[in-house]
Amino acid sequence: MAQDVNMAKVKTTFFCQNCGSQYAKWQGQCTSCKEWNTITEEVIQKPEKSDWKTPTTASKRVSKPLLINEIDTSKEARLDMRDGEFNRVLGGGMVHGSLTLLGGEPGIGKSTLLLQIALNLEYKTLYVSGEESQKQIKMRAERIQPNSNNCYILTETKTQNIFKQIEALEPDIVVIDSIQTLHSDYIESSAGSISQVKECTSELIKFAKETATPVLLIGHITKDGNIAGPKILEHMVDTVLQFEGDRNHVFRILRANKNRFGSTNELGIYEMQGSGLREVSNPSEILISEKDGELSGNAVAATLEGLRPLMIEVQALVSTAVYGTPQRSATGFNAKRLNMLLAVLEKRAGFRLGAKDVFLNITGGITVDDPAIDLAVVAAILSSNEDVALQSDFCFAAEVGLSGEIRPVQRVEQRILEAEKLGFSTIFVSKYNKIALKNTVIKIQLISKIEDLVGFLV
Ligand code: TYD
Ligand code: MG
Repeated sequence: MAQDVNMAKVKTTFFCQNCGSQYAKWQGQCTSCKEWNTITEEVIQKPEKSDWKTPTTASKRVSKPLLINEIDTSKEARLDMRDGEFNRVLGGGMVHGSLTLLGGEPGIGKSTLLLQIALNLEYKTLYVSGEESQKQIKMRAERIQPNSNNCYILTETKTQNIFKQIEALEPDIVVIDSIQTLHSDYIESSAGSISQVKECTSELIKFAKETATPVLLIGHITKDGNIAGPKILEHMVDTVLQFEGDRNHVFRILRANKNRFGSTNELGIYEMQGSGLREVSNPSEILISEKDGELSGNAVAATLEGLRPLMIEVQALVSTAVYGTPQRSATGFNAKRLNMLLAVLEKRAGFRLGAKDVFLNITGGITVDDPAIDLAVVAAILSSNEDVALQSDFCFAAEVGLSGEIRPVQRVEQRILEAEKLGFSTIFVSKYNKIALKNTVIKIQLISKIEDLVGFLV
C-alpha cells in the first residue's frame, strides 16, 4: 500500500541543462554556472532503487577493508584495444570494469572510431546503438572492413532491455552509442535530459563495477565544447576522452581530459579516410604536408590551454610605417604585451622597430594568455623584420622579461613532449627551466637572452 502512495505522487526536480546542478524550485539563473534560462523541470520517479539487474538480486557483496599490500592487481591487466593510438590515450589499454566517455562534435567520427575498434577486437563486444539501425551500422562496417566474428550489434535504448541482452550474451566489452539516447524505466523524463543521463550512467557504472566489464560511452557535445548537459557525467566516469578536429580537414585528435588509470598528456592522432580512421603514428607528416614553403614572420609556440598542450602558430608582419605614428595591432594577443615586447627588442636587443608598423596574428582565431607564447611572438617579429624565414620545424616556449631575459615557463616538459609528438625538430626554451627529460628525439635549445635567438634566424 505504502508503495502505491509513492507511485501516485509525481516527483519532479529542477535541473540546469548546462551544468546539471539540481534545484528544489525554478529560478532564472543557475547559481552554479551563472547561465540564464537553463533550468527546467524534470519528472523523476524512483519506485525502488534501480539496479542493473532486478532489484531483488541486488549486490550482496560487502566490501571489506584490505591492507594495501594485499590488494591483488593481477586482474587489473588491461584489455588490448588493438589500436595503438587508442591504447596510448587510455594509458596502455582498457581497464576491467572501467567506464570511458568519448565526447566530440556531431559528425566528427565517434561512432566510426568505436565501431572500428569493436570490429577489430578479439574480445566479445556488444555495440549498442540508439542512433542508427542495425542495417545502417552494417553498411558502415562494410566500409571499415576488418570484420570480426565477435562483434554483436543491438539497437535498443531502454537500459533494462540492454541489461537483459547483456546477461544473455555476456560480452567482454560494451559500447553505448550514445548515452543521450538511453532511457531508464526508473525515471520518467525524456531521453537526453539530465536526470535520465545521470540515471542511465549510474546504472551502467554499477553494471561495469559489479561484472568488471569495461563500458565505452559516446557522449554528444554542446556548441561551447562541453559534453552535452551534464558536467556531472564527467565526474561519474573513470575516463573522459575527447575526439576533436576540424570537420573540413581529415585529421582528428583524441585526448584524455580525465583518466583515472593513466596520464592525460597523451594524445592520439587519426586520419579520416573513405574506409574509416587510420592511425597516424608519425604526426610530423601532418605539418610537413600542410606547409608549402617557409615564410618569414611565422613561428610556432608550444602553449598550454588549461592542462592541455597546444601548438599555436604566430604570424607577424613588420613594415615601414606609412603614416607618422606607427601602428601596432594584435589579434588573439594582448596589445599591451606586444608593445612591451617591442620595447624590449628596441632597448635590449637594438632592433629599430620604433618607426615600423607591427601586426600580430594568432592563427585559428584563438586567444592566448599563456606567457610561454612570448618567445614565439618575438621570433615571428624578428623573422618578419629581417625577412628571413624560421625553420618550420622550430617551436618556442618561454616568457620574455623586461630586461630581455628568457624566463622559464611551467610544465615545460609537457610542452616538449607535445612538440616532439607533433614532429618538431627543435624547441627553444629558457636556460633556467629545469628539465629532467631523457632520451628525447627533439632537440632542446636552451637560451638565456634574446641575442641568443638572433643567431638562429639566418
Ligand atoms: P560518425 O562516426 O557518424 O560521427 P559521430 O558519431 O561523431 O557523429 O562520422 C561521420 C563522418 O565520418 C561522416 O561525415 C562521414 C565520415 N566517414 C568517412 O569519411 N569515412 C568512413 O569510413 C566513415 C565510416 C565515415
Ligand atoms: Mg554517431
